[in-house]
Amino acid sequence: MRNVTKDNITDVFKGYFGPDTDPRLREIMGSLASHLHAFAKDVNLTHEEWNLGIAFLERMTEFTDKERHEFVLLSDVLGLSSLVDMINSVPDGTSSSVLGPFHITDAPDIPFGFDMKRHYEGEVLLATGRVTDPDGNPIEGAKLDIWQTAPNGLYSSQDEEQDTYSFHGIQTTDAEGRYGFTTVKPVSYEVPTDGPVGDLLDATGRHAWRPSHLHYIIKADGYRPLVTEIFPDNDPYLDNDAVFGVREDLVMTYVEKPADTFPEGYELSGKVDETYLVADFDLKLVPTG
Ligand code: BEZ
Ligand code: FE
Repeated sequence: MRNVTKDNITDVFKGYFGPDTDPRLREIMGSLASHLHAFAKDVNLTHEEWNLGIAFLERMTEFTDKERHEFVLLSDVLGLSSLVDMINSVPDGTSSSVLGPFHITDAPDIPFGFDMKRHYEGEVLLATGRVTDPDGNPIEGAKLDIWQTAPNGLYSSQDEEQDTYSFHGIQTTDAEGRYGFTTVKPVSYEVPTDGPVGDLLDATGRHAWRPSHLHYIIKADGYRPLVTEIFPDNDPYLDNDAVFGVREDLVMTYVEKPADTFPEGYELSGKVDETYLVADFDLKLVPTG
């Protein structure tokens, strides 16, 4: 096409696909081009503005490496990660939520009752619950991959003071589908702001805070894997999570209990002075197929 215009450029683009283009790729790229072209027309994008956009993307690549996933962060703060989660969520199971950039794939196995808190300062939290199917039947042998920040709000990969696997572990559920470990009460924290995503948040007058949470990935044979998080109901950032991860069914209440009720079977290297908190949360998996 030699007479490309503002009005036909999207159709011209779509006409350039080769005959063997995968149909799904054709659909996705065609739609992406339509929305990008519509966006540029909608805001009357100038050369100067688009050059800034390109420079932003170039800075994104400079900040990205094996440990710093700036593109994941961009997708998160744009709400795209959460939207993809919601588009792909299935009814009857626990809601999914953002994976975020700080999951590590080779966390160590931990036994039931494991103490993730160790020497760290903070309130003791006993996290427990059952992994079940949608009817509440226990799933034995489910793998629960757990991660959270230290009390300073940093994940181990962000913090030289922590060892690689601090506040990371994988637990296998027992015959009742139960998991359980002790840890330190999670804190609200800011997503990294020292890169281009931080500049974007700043320029648009947004904060970088996430409500406190525990991350879980649950995998079991015959069930769809679930990537999720749980949030306490008294966190100040519940209604303005920088990455849009909060879902109603993921909000729960920490129950405060007297120290003398601390149960058998849980390791505790920190001392429970007067009280400890319990996060009792069941996770429902949906069968595959
Ligand atoms: C997180 O919860 O670990 C997280 C999620 C999205 C962006 C940054 C951090
Ligand atoms: Fe997190």
